[in-house]
Amino acid sequence: MNPSPTDASTPPLSGSQNQSALSPDLDGGAAMFDRIAKRYDRLNRIISLGMDRSWRRSLVESLAPSGALGAADEVLDVATGTADVALRIAKRYPDARVVGLDPSSGMLEVGRQKIEQAGLKQRMNLVVGDAQGMPFEDNRFVASCIAFGIRNVPDRIRGLAEMTRVTRCEGIVSILELGEPRHGLLAPFARLHVRHVVPRIGSWISGDEAYAYLSRSVADFPPPDDFAQLMESVGLSIERVTPFAAGAANLYVGRKRS
Ligand SMILES: C[S@@+](CC[C@H](N)C(=O)[O-])C[C@H]1O[C@@H](n2cnc3c(N)ncnc32)[C@H](O)[C@@H]1O
Repeated sequence: MNPSPTDASTPPLSGSQNQSALSPDLDGGAAMFDRIAKRYDRLNRIISLGMDRSWRRSLVESLAPSGALGAADEVLDVATGTADVALRIAKRYPDARVVGLDPSSGMLEVGRQKIEQAGLKQRMNLVVGDAQGMPFEDNRFVASCIAFGIRNVPDRIRGLAEMTRVTRCEGIVSILELGEPRHGLLAPFARLHVRHVVPRIGSWISGDEAYAYLSRSVADFPPPDDFAQLMESVGLSIERVTPFAAGAANLYVGRKRS
């Protein structure tokens, strides 16, 4: 597939539609990610102490419970950013096609370069868009996912409902998201890391306040049981919730009810 700014197989958002689809919050979010796009991948590794790789691997594995996807199968990666997860999906499932969606053209530009380098242009497409109103028809994708992105979506329920709408019945909707560890021996250390170490390292390396925002948004994110209930409320059955690093991140795997 041609990795153009808009998906050739769906009507692209025109400039004015694009603006009206973006709330002021989202616009701010996209602008923030545009600023840090070139340093984003490196910062991620440092801040998560390299653990995000195995968390992402678990997310990708969750998308196909049978272990395989076919040539007609399309997977959606929402808030794809620099396409890290989208690329992992394309490599893990060599027959499937992958669509990534994100409002930050700066992040997508970095993603396009990575896709080009990996030689995966034919099976991948990156689309500028908002999780709260996606330019895809109902039931298009065999599975959909979002990694470290649902926190950034101003109306989370709408974002989750949209992911459910565009996924086939019985398809998997997986969400990987950071959380504030609340229980266990490691919890105080993990909280200290997220609240104080992450914003400092982030602003030190990126010269940007974006990582102070990250700490605040993690603290504001609902606890796993509450978030799982939100997923249930939009038509998903929770298959499992897997905590990583004492709950510093959680993988929520849902299945669309028929
Ligand atoms: C922390 S990054 C995660 C990127 C990528 N999924 C990853 O795993 O590295 C969050 C992403 O959410 C995107 N984002 C912010 N608001 C959004 C929205 N309303 N809809 C979809 N994506 C959004 C940002 O542009 C950014 O690329």
